[in-house]
Amino acid sequence: MASPAPATRDTPDPDFAELLARRPHLTAHAFDGLVMDDVPLVQIARAVGTPTWVYSAGTLRRRHAMLRDALRDAGLTASIHFATKCNDSLAVLRVLNAEGAGADVVSGGELIGARAAGIPADRIVFSGVGKTRAEIAQALAEGVLQLNAESAEEIEMIAAVAAETGRIAPVALRVNPDVDARTHAKISTGLAENKFGIAYNDAAALYARLSSLPGIRPVGLAVHIGSQITEGMAAYRAAYARVADLARALLSRGLPIERLDCGGGLGIPYRDEIAPSPAALAGAIKATLGPLNIPVMMEPGRWIAGPAGVLLASVILQKRGAAHRFVVLDAAMNDLIRPAMYESWHGILPLAPDAFHAPRAPAEVVGPVCESSDTFARGRGLPDLPPGSLVAFLDAGAYGSTMSSTYNARPLAAEVLVDGARWAVTRPRQSHEALLANQVVPDWLGSPA
Ligand code: LLP
Repeated sequence: MASPAPATRDTPDPDFAELLARRPHLTAHAFDGLVMDDVPLVQIARAVGTPTWVYSAGTLRRRHAMLRDALRDAGLTASIHFATKCNDSLAVLRVLNAEGAGADVVSGGELIGARAAGIPADRIVFSGVGKTRAEIAQALAEGVLQLNAESAEEIEMIAAVAAETGRIAPVALRVNPDVDARTHAKISTGLAENKFGIAYNDAAALYARLSSLPGIRPVGLAVHIGSQITEGMAAYRAAYARVADLARALLSRGLPIERLDCGGGLGIPYRDEIAPSPAALAGAIKATLGPLNIPVMMEPGRWIAGPAGVLLASVILQKRGAAHRFVVLDAAMNDLIRPAMYESWHGILPLAPDAFHAPRAPAEVVGPVCESSDTFARGRGLPDLPPGSLVAFLDAGAYGSTMSSTYNARPLAAEVLVDGARWAVTRPRQSHEALLANQVVPDWLGSPA
């Protein structure tokens, strides 16, 4: 069983100043209020409306560089493949592509997006526990760097598609190391009970089988034990040590290994978690896989993009309920589902300068969707937020927009990229017309009266 999510709620919430201190791209100005890089967020909210996602290009670049440098400084030959499932904005992908990042994709749609952003196919890894034949054919036609296979059955599928299309498929085996990443059970992936990866004890025989299949070129091993990992390096080390043992066994049998994919999962501090540093992760990789002297890859998502994004929302009204003050926002669980889905904590900051110093009282911060789980925060210390007040959800750059839905017929929110003092809308707010546009009412139901 996965261990329960780490309990951190017995400490007081960080105050506004503490939240800002850990997020250098956000500052509170006396006149402009909350500013991202050089752009007052109020300016964006007024021009574009809310809810709106805003991403900092500078933060994406800086965090990608920190990770790259940490891997290099540990003496590793490493490549970074951004997990586009956490943020598939073409503008975000373009920023990271220009920094030299590749992509980790898990669907035909993500592959199309990564290519549309200009990421070269030979820097793209195709992961996922259930790739369809069409997706495998698409990946081979594009010429991706590798497919990470997750089962014996999938290997046969890949071999069949390769034979049909006359291509050679570069395949890595994703191994399930049966290691507890000590993260939330819903995002733990490296335990034997999880659906992911190939059972550790089957992996050696399957790798040998890969080598015997004509349409397949075995390229290495992959492992990914979970996401939002904050509990030190022990789980990573344990997983990588198992991969190292397996790699040694395969090499001693004369089987080739070109690269080792170390997955993603590095956690970030949303509240007061002590998140491990990229240097610590690089050190864990070096200590376990380094002696093999094989190039390594990483598939980080959240660590790069999470802190780079905020979700702007407006207060619709403050409701004095029987038990609580409810701050009802125009953003909802359909926009940012993480609190409803994982009980996750996101910092919430007011945008107006005077709100930073106003007295605070506990509030339930909710959206307008008709579900009690449409609750972003409970008992959160916030100032009086009259209708029209603006707030920002912090660390919303990963698994925010990509997990949105249109539940309650709520159009997808707008997206904006900030780059220094420049900003631009990178995805206009979806229109109500667009929401209805792809529906068809059968003729026999007649026309509306
Ligand atoms: N590689 C593989 C094979 C993955 O499954 C994932 C994430 C990643 C890389 C990137 O992991 P990261 O570095 O972002 O932790 N929706 C959840 C997170 C789901 C993670 C799924 N897999 C959340 O909002 O917390």
